[in-house]
Amino acid sequence: MAFPEAWLNELMGKNDIASVISEYVQLTPRGGRLWGHCPFHTDKTPSFSVSPDKQLFHCFSCKAGGSVIQFIMQADNLSYIDAVRRLAERAGMEMPDEIDDRRLMEQKRLRERIYEANREAALFYYKALFSPEGAGAQRYLANRGVNADTAKNFGLGFSPDGFDTLYSYLTEKGFSREVLIKAGLAVPGRKDPDKTYDFFRGRLMFPVINVMGKVVAFGGRTMGSDEPKYINTGDTPVYNKRENIYALNLMKGKKLDDLVIVEGYMDVISLHQHGIDNAVASLGTALTSQQAKLIKRFVQKVYYAYDGDEAGQKAMLRGIDILREADIEPRVIVLPDGRDPDEYVKAFGAESFTVLKDASITGMRFKLERTAKVCGLETADGRESFAREACAILSGLDPVERDRYIPYVAEASGLSADTVREQCGVPPRQPNSQAPARYNNYKRPKSDSERTKNEIRLLSCIMASPSEGAQIGRSKGFSLMLFRDAHLRAFCARLLAAYSSGNRADIPVMLAELEPEAAESVSAAYALTDDISSPVACAEDIIAAVTEADLKDKLRELSERAGAAPSDEKPEIMKEYSDTFARLQELKKQRRNSDN
Ligand code: UTP
Ligand code: MN
Repeated sequence: MAFPEAWLNELMGKNDIASVISEYVQLTPRGGRLWGHCPFHTDKTPSFSVSPDKQLFHCFSCKAGGSVIQFIMQADNLSYIDAVRRLAERAGMEMPDEIDDRRLMEQKRLRERIYEANREAALFYYKALFSPEGAGAQRYLANRGVNADTAKNFGLGFSPDGFDTLYSYLTEKGFSREVLIKAGLAVPGRKDPDKTYDFFRGRLMFPVINVMGKVVAFGGRTMGSDEPKYINTGDTPVYNKRENIYALNLMKGKKLDDLVIVEGYMDVISLHQHGIDNAVASLGTALTSQQAKLIKRFVQKVYYAYDGDEAGQKAMLRGIDILREADIEPRVIVLPDGRDPDEYVKAFGAESFTVLKDASITGMRFKLERTAKVCGLETADGRESFAREACAILSGLDPVERDRYIPYVAEASGLSADTVREQCGVPPRQPNSQAPARYNNYKRPKSDSERTKNEIRLLSCIMASPSEGAQIGRSKGFSLMLFRDAHLRAFCARLLAAYSSGNRADIPVMLAELEPEAAESVSAAYALTDDISSPVACAEDIIAAVTEADLKDKLRELSERAGAAPSDEKPEIMKEYSDTFARLQELKKQRRNSDN
């Protein structure tokens, strides 16, 4: 804990969340909460809520949420410490001298220092680009059709080809060797580790700026043909490429219907210059769930425009699932002739790109077409395996969405629509029967987001009442491992520890100390506590459902493994399968009994 709890308590008490947020958002009371337009995404209906009793904000649309501290962090782009400082000033409180956790503070100071070093470095590279020594880099940009305005908009730069030009410049400015190495700007000499040289030398520089507007990393492109083509900042205390989206910072404050997501720096830059200014990049990796969550703050729909090569196609397949899990609608723009978006828009112009965008296909259709390509529809065997794989994909959809794809799978495989439907686990259409009624008792397969919802509800039950929460924590089926979400799990562990120590668990204060991402999941749970009337019973249901889903997952995995395993390993896998199956039956029996 960075601040003494009593002090933090006083701070929160003197900064009532409703009055703080009213300084930013117009709030109207309704149903025990205050409502307004969410400041963190383009919000057409007021989906942003403030609960004065819980001292919590929560956006039901973009899922931003937390305490007054996280609100200030996000609204004013401040670090945790600075947000606390701002609130202390607002309340006329002195900052405490005593800081419990020295290490945490040191880490924060290091991060601040790295941000400053990165900012200085970006300026240095930028100035170098527009100075005589950057003439070659300017020519390179001109050759690739990037004009000066675009270069400025993206803060492009040039890293001089000296041994330690940037390093000496920044040490001169007071940055320590340690900070510069940790920032990834400098590296120790390989032969002589006491020497230090610049990580980026003689390259065209692309600063990576996060949504808070901080320079967190760089990419550097060679202007020759040497390898590697790009080098990038690795993981540092302020940067993890799996959690960042290039150019998302430029989307702040824009009215957006969707984003176009591309692979590379140059694709983004080129699209922007052609007026397609909602392009962002995942920088050569498949999309991660953290990135999806970030995107979700801005849009509900994403157009993929990745390269047509094998790596690009594979990355899209993964990304489509990840976007769907995050409740973002994925579409795919198919670029002809293996061109990348930069090459395409340069060759054919922005209008032509927009036409391709209008002709995009759904992520699901892309997955099916790709399956068709991999299986090969020329042979009967190929068509059969396509039918099986396609139906396996479709069986994960809800029936209404699935129905859109059945004609395509039927036609491509040469099977009848009824056969395809049956293979997907749905009974074939009865002529003259009422179509929708058939699906009344259809259970959607549990997707990851369903799972997360359950975990949030479970935590919510535990938060709803200390005595019942503690009881849930001690109950037989409960385990922290029911939480796959690490934030929820960690918070639940702390809460249960507080319950069992007999200390009052001050949830708003506990929430106030979380990193924004953790605060979001936890405050989603906290926001639900009002709806839970009998926490123990509700938790029991959720635990049973989650355990059942886990067992089913395990069965599925075991049967896949059994299929692929050499025959001497099969008996062991089958033994585990039947044990798991028995546990599942037992669980189902208990659930039936408790229902009666
Ligand atoms: P590409 O090879 O498709 O490059 O890599 P590009 O974006 O079309 O680049 P140009 O047009 O030749 O300049 C896509 C992305 O993958 C990452 C970079 O982020 C790049 O933008 N990458 C690629 C690397 O990090 N290192 C590499 O050596 C190559
Ligand atoms: Mn390219």
